[in-house]
Amino acid sequence: LGGTFVPAVVVGTGYGAAVTALRLGEAGVPTLMLEMGRLWNRPGPDGSIFCGMLKPDKRSSWFKTRTEAPLGSFLWLDLVNRDIDPYAGVLDRVDFDQMSVYVGRGVGGGSLVNGGMAVTPRRSYFEEVLPQVDADEMYTTYFPRANATLRVNSIDQGWFERTDWYRFARVSREQAGNAGLRTTFVPNVYDWDHMRREADGSAPKSALAGEVIYGNNHGKVSLDKSCLAAALGTGKVTIETLHQVRTIRQGNDGTYLLTVEQKDADGELLATKEIACRHLFLGAGSLGSTELLLRARETGTLPGLSPEIGRGWGPNGNIMTARANHVWNPTGAHQSSIPALGIDDWDNPAGPVFAEIALLPAGIETWVSLYLAITKNPERGTFVYDAAKDRADLRWTRDQNTPAVAAAKSLFDRVNAANATVYRYDLFGKQIKAFADDFCYHPLGGCVLGKATDAYGRVAGHRNLYVTDGSLIPGSIGVNPFVTITALAERNAERVIKEDVTAS
Ligand code: FDA
Repeated sequence: LGGTFVPAVVVGTGYGAAVTALRLGEAGVPTLMLEMGRLWNRPGPDGSIFCGMLKPDKRSSWFKTRTEAPLGSFLWLDLVNRDIDPYAGVLDRVDFDQMSVYVGRGVGGGSLVNGGMAVTPRRSYFEEVLPQVDADEMYTTYFPRANATLRVNSIDQGWFERTDWYRFARVSREQAGNAGLRTTFVPNVYDWDHMRREADGSAPKSALAGEVIYGNNHGKVSLDKSCLAAALGTGKVTIETLHQVRTIRQGNDGTYLLTVEQKDADGELLATKEIACRHLFLGAGSLGSTELLLRARETGTLPGLSPEIGRGWGPNGNIMTARANHVWNPTGAHQSSIPALGIDDWDNPAGPVFAEIALLPAGIETWVSLYLAITKNPERGTFVYDAAKDRADLRWTRDQNTPAVAAAKSLFDRVNAANATVYRYDLFGKQIKAFADDFCYHPLGGCVLGKATDAYGRVAGHRNLYVTDGSLIPGSIGVNPFVTITALAERNAERVIKEDVTAS
């Protein structure tokens, strides 16, 4: 096989990819990471690296002509979206027939655009979802290791109670309490000390300037500042940006050969490269890794792949909803973009829900309480390869989200009843709609652990090929997923590097 040869290639730079590359680097294995997005380290003409949420420009979106904010409307008016030039921006929305999936693009993957909520799942539910994984080991070793690698920290609760910036969360907590529901503080990778300094004026504002889904200019410890910085620090890891892996095949000697397209940030093709490696780790996310393997199976370049590739996908039960408060109960014009509280009703056998209390960063009083509910929905989707479009299509219908909407509705009906409040119907696009059931932030599954792979992410049917990201988790984990993705990658990388990589 021709092309450049490197011992190990990691595709993507999100959570699973970053941890795997760090551990490969520490083990002394020369490793190349390939990321289709750009490196976010240079300020634009306005002096900032990322653009804000209220005045988005081309940096916001991955090759779109108009921004696609999840809360595009207010009183059914399309107020926040803007026309933009197509560009390698940081947030992508991948549209399937009946489901849209938001993902991050750039060095750091989803860590660049997400809310930073770093939640370790409830052990009993983790055991239910991934019964073949030793939970003792996870909860004593790999979850703590993931939290340390990601630099997870907790809010000063005294400050939380005092600050204007979390009035919206305190209002929601009180209203949940009126309905007999309990809330819990949620750790984060945003540096809470930095946020306090933002509040007292001694640090530049980011969370307190509404920045999040198009990137945080300050405060957030995204992967490029934590795990990927450490990986580069080993001296063994390099990252190529604006490099998208298109195809994977395997030579007779077992070497993997990748076709990789290098583009500029405006989308111009600069080169098509061939890169060869012995060990190949896919960390391109649930959508990305599943698509690469489906294409390889269906076009015959990796003929041994299992029929399980593409199965077991779910949106982690994501449903967004909003309530209108009474005028005497304002949620505040000042809202931190980093969530600090969740309503924890996961023990409710009728419909488990963990609902993050989200912000509405309008910069004005809206009297809105917004939530991202994570529900337990047993429905699963399947990816199939569309040869004409050369892409993975998701078989998932809107009505598969009926159980998730029912669980969210049951919880927030209780909150509304206890507080004599109502839903908002004007925030999720042009329709009259109280529950956003057509998009998600938490795509999971497609290459499920123990089905499409062995118990450590080794892809069935081809040696030295691994999946290391959210596609391993079968569609649901009950909380925001990146801590679980990271911890599972820690566990799998430790095993695989010892048994397969450094031993060979
Ligand atoms: P991830 O998606 O992070 O990374 C994959 C990377 O691979 C991307 O950088 C992508 O560009 C790249 N890639 C894909 N295909 C490629 C190819 N063919 N070639 C090269 N590169 C390729 N979770 C949480 O726990 N707490 C939270 O608060 C939030 N909040 C949140 C908000 C928003 C707006 C979003 C969109 C998401 C969240 N999430 C979240 C979800 C979380 O960000 C997500 O679960 C993880 O980023 C998934 O990690 P992975 O390692 O699976 O891939």
